[in-house]
Amino acid sequence: MPEPEKSDAGAQQCPFIPPFPEPLKTKAGLLRRFAIGWNSWIHTLFERSYTMKMGLVSLPRLKLYVVNDLDIVTRVLDDPRREYPKHPVLMDMLGPLIGVSTFSANGQEWADQRQMVNPAFAHTNLQRGYARMLGAAEDVVAMMRDADRTRPVDIDPLMTHVTADIIFRTIFSVKLSADEAMRIYTEFTRYQAQAQRSTMLGLNGLPQFGYKRRAQKSADKIHDVLTAIMRPRYDARQRGEAPAQADIMEALMDARHPETGAPFTFQELVHQISLIFLAGHETSASALAWALYLLSEQPELQEELYAAIEAETGGGPLEFEHVRRLDSVRNLFRETLRLYPPVAFLPRSVITPETMRGKPVQPEDLLVIAPWLIQRNSANWSCPHSFDPERFARPENADAVRNAWLPFGAGARLCIGAGFAQQEAVIILASIIRAFRLTHPPGRRPELVSRLTVRPRHGVPLILTPRG
Ligand code: HEM
Repeated sequence: MPEPEKSDAGAQQCPFIPPFPEPLKTKAGLLRRFAIGWNSWIHTLFERSYTMKMGLVSLPRLKLYVVNDLDIVTRVLDDPRREYPKHPVLMDMLGPLIGVSTFSANGQEWADQRQMVNPAFAHTNLQRGYARMLGAAEDVVAMMRDADRTRPVDIDPLMTHVTADIIFRTIFSVKLSADEAMRIYTEFTRYQAQAQRSTMLGLNGLPQFGYKRRAQKSADKIHDVLTAIMRPRYDARQRGEAPAQADIMEALMDARHPETGAPFTFQELVHQISLIFLAGHETSASALAWALYLLSEQPELQEELYAAIEAETGGGPLEFEHVRRLDSVRNLFRETLRLYPPVAFLPRSVITPETMRGKPVQPEDLLVIAPWLIQRNSANWSCPHSFDPERFARPENADAVRNAWLPFGAGARLCIGAGFAQQEAVIILASIIRAFRLTHPPGRRPELVSRLTVRPRHGVPLILTPRG
């Protein structure tokens, strides 16, 4: 873990710096970068990556530009004329799971799909979804109480369970079983490892061997969990039976293409639902696991948050209006998303050749916009590697919050679920803080691995002590 840094003023130590991979001193050569990137992207970064405005990484078949210049970042992400589509590398990484769906499509195809899926997102309405979120949070607290607490409990799969359960109920109106949750957790972990290797080989112009096939196998197993519910409902719809539920699945079966009037085919539905399911829980699960780890390092903060929650609720149940006012818990989550953005890199390409900061960028080049780097750059944030949730409450950080905090992306392709994710996070964190004191076992700080998402490599073991 890197040493504590000095603050910008140079006079005082920065607050607590949680673990992150030590940057390399200098840019790695091709072979070293390949060996490190085989397991994790963030480990390939070097010291200057955290301060430079724009940098080039030459790969055998590809030029990769890391873009940290905030003016260019805003222009590329805003993209009103659709000049910076998502790069094909994204399809390479995610295609087996989500096909060409709302996250991965480009141009007119994306615009048409967004028009088709937008009504389904009415089911992620915050007030309507509140009871579902609170129910799932209470269930996970019960699971934590029932766990064998004589030893540290790995809260990483539990966070996958609770977030997957919430989005599952929102899509299908049914609960996710513990067995289904564990199958998804295991297969998605496998998928990430296989897709990482296959993409690494592809980027370096090498054959992808069996990695792509193995990634597809894990994707198929995740699809099996989803299609077990989708198939009977789809078939019933084809037979003209009246809808039994009002949920995302139903709204997607109602959707019609704006030009042709065609509905989604079953395969297209599988991809859209896989996307909403995965985007809707994996990212939140990762951030919640990191947030609980960060809390476990800060007993005083836990007591402060506990007191704030009790003051807001008067010791009674957590209601919808309380959640909006729990700024201190929301700031904990926002700071976690700054330090550990689940989507650390956003890949884009250009359509027309242009010059960026004096560098000639061509259509086949890969532009990488990295929330991980932008959110840890000392030009944007003071003590950038320190954990300091209250920075979000300080007026002098308003510009940084607006321009240099992009865990949900920005502009045209901004995350549809940002409000949903933040509401469920506050509910889950508040429910856990009310139920337990958290400590982390000595010598077992989580280690990070960065593939499709930024994840704890070996889980997050925590000691859970019930309150009162
Ligand atoms: C902490 C939780 C979450 C994080 C960090 C996150 C992050 C992101 C990011 C960075 C993007 C943009 C990617 C890019 O520009 O290349 C995105 C897009 C998207 N997210 Fe999320 N997300 C989260 C939760 C959710 C949830 C809960 C849902 C669904 C309920 C969701 C659905 C989507 C969809 C559908 C898109 C594609 C939007 C488009 O391109 O039209 N996300 N998300």
